[in-house]
Amino acid sequence: MAIALEDIVPFGRSADEYARMFALSAADLDSGIVGIGDGPASFNAEMSALEKAVISVDPLYCFSAEDIETRFHAVADDIIAQVRATPDDWVWSYHRSPEQLKANRLQALNRFTADFAAGKAQGRYRTGELPDLDFPMGRFALALCSHLLFLYSDHLSYDFHIASVHEMLRVADEVRIFPLLTLTGAPSPHLHPLLHHFERAGFEVALASVDYELQKGGNQMLRVSRAASDTRATSSSHPL
Ligand SMILES: C[S@@+](CC[C@H](N)C(=O)[O-])C[C@H]1O[C@@H](n2cnc3c(N)ncnc32)[C@H](O)[C@@H]1O
Repeated sequence: MAIALEDIVPFGRSADEYARMFALSAADLDSGIVGIGDGPASFNAEMSALEKAVISVDPLYCFSAEDIETRFHAVADDIIAQVRATPDDWVWSYHRSPEQLKANRLQALNRFTADFAAGKAQGRYRTGELPDLDFPMGRFALALCSHLLFLYSDHLSYDFHIASVHEMLRVADEVRIFPLLTLTGAPSPHLHPLLHHFERAGFEVALASVDYELQKGGNQMLRVSRAASDTRATSSSHPL
């Protein structure tokens, strides 16, 4: 499916935010991670600098770093204005203010754009999209999906969510998704049906509280695992 840059909000998070959102342990970081819908997050760039193997997949990667940067600057002030207009919907314990939120998103974007050409050449940034991933079965230990599934529940159907999580479980032993709220801050209507679907299908499913909250009430991630004996740590004491 062709994607239009105008449809995308290229706001990306840092490696520290990823570590908190997904309660990533030191063992997780060494395990082989694929980030689905990583967009202009700096997770991959920062992990690469630490010599950790991360592959990011996003339809956005068909565009140039300059195009992505231009799109960021076209939408950033509007988004920050929307945040400012809804003060009760946000928790300012991590980003201290809307202005700092924008500065942090810009810092992530700058780290991403500085790394994009080299990362693309090394195969760390792959153009692709859910619900079909171009990887063999079991290629990764962990698939992370931040601010795509559940968040865009009004745009992405329940069936799309089910197919996407099955596909991530095909390529990775475990899937972690954050947040579980929609863009309006409401619990996603897809969450509980999806949770029951994967429980019934024999997967391990768990909701976990994490050390990150920007959308008020958005401090939980979903873990779905196809390895019944999975013992990887998900301690909230993250290593970054
Ligand atoms: C709000 S951004 C989140 C970026 C990053 N995960 C983060 O949290 O910092 C959502 C990303 O999902 C990507 N996206 C949209 N549709 C997708 C799909 N079908 N499969 C994978 N990624 C998709 C967009 O291009 C965008 O980069």
